[in-house]
Amino acid sequence: MKILIVGNGGREHAFAWKIRQSQLCSQLFIAPGNAGTGLVGENVAIAVDDFEALGKLCLAKDIHLVVVGPEVPLVKGIRDYFEAHPGLKNIGLVGPGKLGAQLEGSKDFSKQFMIRNGVPTAKARTFHAHESAEAINYLSTCTPPIVLKADGLAAGKGVIITESIDEAKVSIKEMLEDKKFGAASSKVLIEEFLDGIELSVFVLTDGEHYVVLPEAKDYKRIGDGDTGPNTGGMGAVSPVAFADKAFMKKVDEQVIQPTIVGLKKEAIPYKGFIFIGLMNVHGEPIVIEYNARMGDPETEAVLTRIESDLVGLLAACAKGNLENQKISIGNDYAVTVVMASGGYPNDFEKGKVISGLTDSTNAWAFHAGTKLKDNQVITNGGRVLAVTGKGNSISEASENAYSAVSKIKWEGAYYRKDIGQDLKRIETKLKQ
Ligand code: AMP
Ligand code: GLY
Repeated sequence: MKILIVGNGGREHAFAWKIRQSQLCSQLFIAPGNAGTGLVGENVAIAVDDFEALGKLCLAKDIHLVVVGPEVPLVKGIRDYFEAHPGLKNIGLVGPGKLGAQLEGSKDFSKQFMIRNGVPTAKARTFHAHESAEAINYLSTCTPPIVLKADGLAAGKGVIITESIDEAKVSIKEMLEDKKFGAASSKVLIEEFLDGIELSVFVLTDGEHYVVLPEAKDYKRIGDGDTGPNTGGMGAVSPVAFADKAFMKKVDEQVIQPTIVGLKKEAIPYKGFIFIGLMNVHGEPIVIEYNARMGDPETEAVLTRIESDLVGLLAACAKGNLENQKISIGNDYAVTVVMASGGYPNDFEKGKVISGLTDSTNAWAFHAGTKLKDNQVITNGGRVLAVTGKGNSISEASENAYSAVSKIKWEGAYYRKDIGQDLKRIETKLKQ
């Protein structure tokens, strides 16, 4: 089977790495890819939302399966484009259509979907651009912390959490009136703050049946001890100690099942991943958001723990055949440490030469923002590498990850030193 992965981040390198291990994969292309994906497949310089060029590539290379990594092509309708084209409609594609991708593309849509289908979620009110005065009045009645969310895609920057009602009032005015996030903030949700521990749950569904992938915890803040501004994610750990059998049963029954039933009931076709971001609030799962894709850097931890042939699962998903598929997950741990360019998530420099990149049997450096220049791997983004270590405990996995990280160098490289420490403490406490 010839396979195309769409995307260029660490998530796509991890997909490429895992897919390449399958006997079912005869040839692998990545569009546009990065220096890491180029080691396991053939990079093709096509942008993720250039559907026409992607379609032509699929026909020219006789591609059987397309795996879409990021949200932008999904929300823009890559599936709809393929389905409308006679030559492309029979190609298997992992990723929902435009309507299903609204679960991520519009926070108002997903909130109403959750409410209609009985999925537990934080209470929220939506305000439109012309309702700025109402929103400001409503804020006066709220108890901090206040959570403001731009309705549309805002590259991970659309959520503002503040202790100050005055600050929230300024922010909501900037979002609704001054279009701080462009069209994405033409609607804004004011949401109840959930106090708990966050968890990312990943489901692969064909719209009717589903398999649950390993869960993971993401580390969103730039600084150790969860300090400083939010980022796309500075690390990930899987499994997550508090997500034991009993908690995951609640997630399955109270969140995943009503979501899948809801999609079917509302005639929203869905073949792809659903990433459920939830909060464990006193042992109860409450959904923060859906994403129509896998998480990054969670994928770089999650995929290393899947023992099953991923291509078999992806092909079954694309064909609507997940009913009899089982997923086998290892009992081991994965810890992913993101190495970023100095200055990220604010301004940073690109083009620094990276040295010390060698994989071992228990650690892999997945490339995120890298490219090849004159046969050297150079930095090409904020998040540069997602270094994953495996082991029989969090400590062992973390030692393997950090040992690999310590060998990798470039000018200004930055990474968090505490990925997994909090879960290690929770695990120790749960064992007592
Ligand atoms: P998002 O961009 O939707 O992933 O949100 C960014 C982050 O904001 C989430 O990962 C949470 O850490 C936090 N967050 C979002 N909504 C809430 C909420 N209702 N209560 C507490 N934290 C939240
Ligand atoms: N790591 C969070 C995300 O992919 O949205």
